[in-house]
Amino acid sequence: MKIWICPGSFDPVTMGHIDIIRRARKMCDHLIIAIGVNDEKKATFTFDERKEFVKKCVKDMDNVEVDTFEGLLINYAKNKGATAIVKGLRAVSDFEYELQMALLNKRLNDKIETVFLMTSINYSHLSSRAVRNIAKYNGEIRGLVPDAIHDDIYLKLKKGK
Ligand code: PNS
Repeated sequence: MKIWICPGSFDPVTMGHIDIIRRARKMCDHLIIAIGVNDEKKATFTFDERKEFVKKCVKDMDNVEVDTFEGLLINYAKNKGATAIVKGLRAVSDFEYELQMALLNKRLNDKIETVFLMTSINYSHLSSRAVRNIAKYNGEIRGLVPDAIHDDIYLKLKKGK
């Protein structure tokens, strides 16, 4: 069985992530969405909140599982029996960081590949940070995040204040 990992902060999951998940799940047998800690970012939503958001959005995708992990991604991927890590690339600005991550992960375990999918042009301007900022000031995020979590995002942000 071909298992792939789609890792990220998902703080929160956006339509850009969902686009990558929809496409990646067709390229493997089982796709694990792995919500991890990015030491360079301070998360707005808790692990549990982020997991619930993603779960709601992928509930109809039968070969997709949602999980959280701590520690090194490459170790998590090996423990899950994955053969590849899949990530979305929006622009050249993503490339430098993602290339570095891919090369480091390759050095740590050369049996696990990193696969990049180009983000759909419709979502190339989209980021979790943009969603958080717009929602925080009561702007409209419909179309930027799946409808299933639209209201939850405003509620959780208000609760967190
Ligand atoms: O959505 P993001 O913020 O780009 O996701 C980054 C994430 C969480 C996938 C990345 O920071 C990660 O893999 N964190 C776990 C620790 C790790 O393995 N770091 C890479 C060392 S080479």
